[in-house]
Amino acid sequence: MMRRGKVLLESSRQGSVDSKGNVANDKELVHKCHSDPGGGRALGANPRTHRHRSASGATRKCVLTLDGYSYVIGQHGSLIENQQGALTIVRRSSSRSKAESCPTPTDEQLDSLDLDTEHLPAVDTPDACDKAALRLRYLLRQLNKGEISAETLQKNLHYAAKVLEAVYIDETKPAVARQQSAPTLVFRRLADEDDELSEVQPDAVPPEVREWLASTFTRQLATAKRKSDEKPKFRSVAHAIRAGIFVDRIYRRVTSTALMQFPQDVIRVLKTLDEWSFDVFALHEASGGAPVKYLGYELLNRYGMIHKFKVPPTTLENFLNRIEEGYCKFHNPYHNNLHAADVAQTVHYMLCQTGLMNWLSDLEIFATLVAAVVHDYEHTGTTNNFHVMSGSDTALLYNDRAVLENHHISAAFRLMRDEECNLLQNLSREEFREFRTLVIDMVLATDMSFHFQQLKNMRSLLSLAEPTVDKSKAVSLILHCCDISHPAKRWDLHHRWTMSLLDEFFLQGDKERDLGLPFSPLCDRNNTLVAESQIGFIEFIVEPSMGVCADMLECILGPLHSSSKNSTSSAEPINEESTGNENSTKFKIRKPWATCLSDNKKIWKEQAAKDAEARAKQEEENNSVPPTTEE
Ligand code: CMP
Ligand code: MG
Ligand code: ZN
Repeated sequence: MMRRGKVLLESSRQGSVDSKGNVANDKELVHKCHSDPGGGRALGANPRTHRHRSASGATRKCVLTLDGYSYVIGQHGSLIENQQGALTIVRRSSSRSKAESCPTPTDEQLDSLDLDTEHLPAVDTPDACDKAALRLRYLLRQLNKGEISAETLQKNLHYAAKVLEAVYIDETKPAVARQQSAPTLVFRRLADEDDELSEVQPDAVPPEVREWLASTFTRQLATAKRKSDEKPKFRSVAHAIRAGIFVDRIYRRVTSTALMQFPQDVIRVLKTLDEWSFDVFALHEASGGAPVKYLGYELLNRYGMIHKFKVPPTTLENFLNRIEEGYCKFHNPYHNNLHAADVAQTVHYMLCQTGLMNWLSDLEIFATLVAAVVHDYEHTGTTNNFHVMSGSDTALLYNDRAVLENHHISAAFRLMRDEECNLLQNLSREEFREFRTLVIDMVLATDMSFHFQQLKNMRSLLSLAEPTVDKSKAVSLILHCCDISHPAKRWDLHHRWTMSLLDEFFLQGDKERDLGLPFSPLCDRNNTLVAESQIGFIEFIVEPSMGVCADMLECILGPLHSSSKNSTSSAEPINEESTGNENSTKFKIRKPWATCLSDNKKIWKEQAAKDAEARAKQEEENNSVPPTTEE
C-alpha cells in the first residue's frame, strides 16, 4: 500500500552506520533520499536493508542501500517507522550540540567561499541548509562592506529562500519532545496532502464544488467536514509550456501471425487512432459495441507485444472479450467499455506522440497498455465513498482503502488465471513479477484520493537539480492523467463524457437516497451545479495534472531527444521548438490539450453564467408568489 516518506534532519548521540553496518564518523550525513509515497520501486535499483543495534543498544537502525546510496533509517527511541507509518531518515551529527548545529562561519571560511550558484546541492537536501546559511552570512558581511554585485546577491538570496521554503519544523512531534531534542526539520515536499489542498485558492469556487474536490481528491471522506476556519485554497499550475513532437514512428508491429479480422468500418475509424481527439464513440458504433476488443488488439499488435511476449492471438481475443464483458456488467453510463477504450487510446497518444515509448522497455509498454485497458474493470458505477458508506462487500474485502481500484486489479489478474485468457503465459517468472507490480502500481494510482499527493511528489521531484524519474511513477502519472483527460478533449467529446458521468453520479444519488445515506458530492440530481463543478474540475484537477505530466515528459524525454540529435538514429526529433536563441533549443512536447481545456472552460463559464441567471430568476419568481391563505 501507499506509504509516505519523510526526510528528517536530527541530531543524534551515536555514530552513523554505513551500508555494511559499520559505525562511521560523527558527521556522516544521509546523502540523498528517494521518497516512495506510491509504494513503487525504482527500476534498476537494488534496495537492501538491514537492521543494526547501536553501541549503546538504545537505538535500532535500519540501513537501506538504494541506487548506490546508504540511508540510515530510524527514529528517536527505537522505531523504524513513526506513528504515521512514514519512514524516517535520520541525519546524524553527534559531535555538534543543538546550539552548534549550524555554527557561525569563521572569516577564513567566508573568505574561501565560492559564490557560484550553478553547482549547488538540490534545495531539499540536507547539504543545502548548510550551504544556504553560509551564503547568507557571506552576503551579510559583503553588504556591510558594500562589496557585492546585485546579481550575486539576487542569485544567492534566491537559492537560500528556496532552501528555507523546502523545510519546516515538524509540528507533529509533541512540544516537549521538540524542546528536548533538536528541532526536526522536514522537507516540505513530503508534507501531507491536506497542506496541498489548503494552499489552493478557492476564489470563485462554490462551497459544494470545494467540498467535492476535497472529498474526492484527498483522503478525506465526503462526510468529514472541514473546520470552519480551515479555508481550502486552490493552487493551479502557473505556466503551460509550448508544444512540439518527436516520435520514433517505427512501430514494431508484426502482421504475419494469424490475427483477428477487423471489420472495414473499424479499420476506417482506427486510421485516426494517433490523434488526440480520437472519436471513441465512432469506434463503439463501428465495432458493434466492442471498442475494447478492437482497440486493445490493435494497440498490443502495433507496439509488437503479441510477437514480443508470444501472446497467442486467440488468448488475447478471449481476454479482451472478457474484459469488455466485465465493463458492461453493471450497465454504467460512464464507467463502461467506452471509457476503458478512451483511456487506452489516450495512453497510446502519450506513448507514441510524445516519444515516451522510446524511454520505456517493451515490458513497461505492455504493462502500461494492459493497465489502461483493465483500470476500471467491473466498475460498479458507484464511487469508493459509496462502497465505504454503504459497507459493501468489496469495501469489507479491501478495508475501505482504494476499494474499486483494488477490485479492478484483482479481478483482472484473476481472469488471467484462466488459461484461455492468460496473455502472460509466455512471460518468464521475472517478467511476470515486474509486469504485475507495474500494473498494480498504475491502477492503484488511479484512486483519486491520491491525486494531490501524486502531483505534489512529481512536482517536487522535478524541481530537483537532477531529477531521476522512476518508471513506475511516470507511467502511473500518465495513466492517471489519461483517466481524467476528457475535459481536455474536443468539446463534443468532453460534453458527452460529462453528461454520462453525471448520469452515473445521479443514479448513485438515487441509491443513496433510497438507503438513507447522505448524498455524495455531485450526486444529488436536484442540487448539483454542473457547469461550476466542471470549471472546478478543469481548473484545479485537470489543468494542473496535464501541466505536471507535460513537465515530467519534457524532463525525461529531453535527454533522449538530445542524444538522438547527436546520433545517426532514424528517430527524427520533430518535437523541438526554438527558444529564439539559435544555439539553445529546449525540448518541448506538443500539447493539444491546452487549447481544448481553455475552450471547454470558456463554454462552461458561459453556461454557469446562464445557469446563475436562471436560478436568480427562479428565486425571484418563488419569492413573488403570494403566500397561500389556506393554513
Ligand atoms: P475513474 O475513471 O475511476 O477515475 C477518474 C475519476 O475522475 C473518475 O472515475 C471520476 O470519478 C472523476 N471524473 C472524471 N471526469 C470527471 C468530471 N468531468 N467531473 C467530475 N469528476 C470527474
Ligand atoms: Mg477508476
Ligand atoms: Zn477510469
